[in-house]
Amino acid sequence: MSSEASSAWGEVDAYIADRLIGADADLDSALAANAAAGLPAIDVSPPQGKLLHLLARSIGAKRILEVGALGGYSTIWLARALPEGGRLVTLELEQKHADVAAANLARAGLASRVEIRVGAALDTLPKLAAEAAGPFDLAFIDADKPNNANYFAWALMLARPGSLIIVDNVVREGSVLAGTDADAAGARALFEAIAAEPRVTATAIQTVGSKGWDGFAIAIVNG
Ligand code: SAH
Ligand code: DHB
Ligand code: MG
Repeated sequence: MSSEASSAWGEVDAYIADRLIGADADLDSALAANAAAGLPAIDVSPPQGKLLHLLARSIGAKRILEVGALGGYSTIWLARALPEGGRLVTLELEQKHADVAAANLARAGLASRVEIRVGAALDTLPKLAAEAAGPFDLAFIDADKPNNANYFAWALMLARPGSLIIVDNVVREGSVLAGTDADAAGARALFEAIAAEPRVTATAIQTVGSKGWDGFAIAIVNG
């Protein structure tokens, strides 16, 4: 990709956000707080966050699972889609990220709907299952990429027919095809796992924008 193309992708994302999202005090404050705390700026972009929100609303999601909270930017978008009484559980490895996310969610008025569980998701997911915390109507997987296939398997166990499972960063500048790093291998393992899973119907969509060239996998759990 040329740098002209990638800068145009970012400019178009800014145009989309300006027209269709606009200033949003709680989201803007969350990004500012993340930066002030030194968190990496790897949150979903504003148009992507709004897509997650629209998908959650379109299925009337009442219970949402997130793997990988960071500062809670995507969490805010998703939690805002919940109806009264809806719940979101987000799993985060780093206590510092969880603390920043908790403050951002409280500022956004969402603390009562969101539970942040700190720890490695491969430890906290079995606990959620043991508590019968599911089924979740929507799962958003956005943590350490080498574990994507494992997280997908857990999300499926915690789902019901009709649930959506969405996975971020499955293209990574095309490295899914032949990248030799663990993240690329994780993306391929996810595609293999989905391809071999008869209980879901899935696709993946490549995206360009302020975060470069990447993509989401989206699966629905069959009835
Ligand atoms: N979903 C966020 C971005 C998440 S970035 C947003 O769009 O706003 C990825 C996050 O996953 C980081 O905060 C990282 O600490 C967390 N993470 C990494 N490994 C993890 C693990 N094993 N279990 C849970 N979270 C993990
Ligand atoms: C990275 C992680 C993400 O979840 C993302 O959306 C972009 C980048 C990263 O670890 O570099
Ligand atoms: Mg991501």
